[in-house]
Amino acid sequence: MTGSPPIAAATPPVLPTGQEPPKGRRLLTLLALVAGIAVLLFSLVVLLPGLRSDPYTHATLQLVGDAGNGGRLFRLNCAGCHGLAAQGLVGPNLHGVAHRKNDRQLIQQVVSGRTPPMPRFQPDPQTMADLLAFLHSLP
Ligand code: HEC
Repeated sequence: MTGSPPIAAATPPVLPTGQEPPKGRRLLTLLALVAGIAVLLFSLVVLLPGLRSDPYTHATLQLVGDAGNGGRLFRLNCAGCHGLAAQGLVGPNLHGVAHRKNDRQLIQQVVSGRTPPMPRFQPDPQTMADLLAFLHSLP
């Protein structure tokens, strides 16, 4: 044990006095700052509400859906507007809808009633999970 060599005192880099950083760099710093704030605001407004999950959605997403039963429920409740093969009638074609919308959005679409004339459905979580599995099965 001879002891480690003393650590050299770090000398902070000092700009020569009386000399401002070049204007271009200040502008770049400002732009980076503005971009950073924009990203932060975007994530607060757009991403966080999407990540937050209400208890119903949470319960639904914990379950494994049965696409077969979902199809049966679809033909009973949804086919009148979306077509027996989900090809679209009054409501839009739902093929590939699970690529356009995430599971939370799909659940909201079914339970919120926010897009009339589509009614507000209130399936229990397992039924919703089955419908979700069916929507995922649509090519
Ligand atoms: C009374 C007619 C009607 C019924 C019944 C209905 N829908 Fe809809 N649905 C619509 C309409 C109209 C839209 C388009 C709403 C909009 O975006 O303005 C829609 C949109 C959707 C969308 C979003 C499509 C997209 O491309 O974003 C999904 C998913 C959906 N419906 C699923 C269902 C399911 C599942 C059921 C049955 C539980 C159902 N719908 C029952 C009329 C209906």
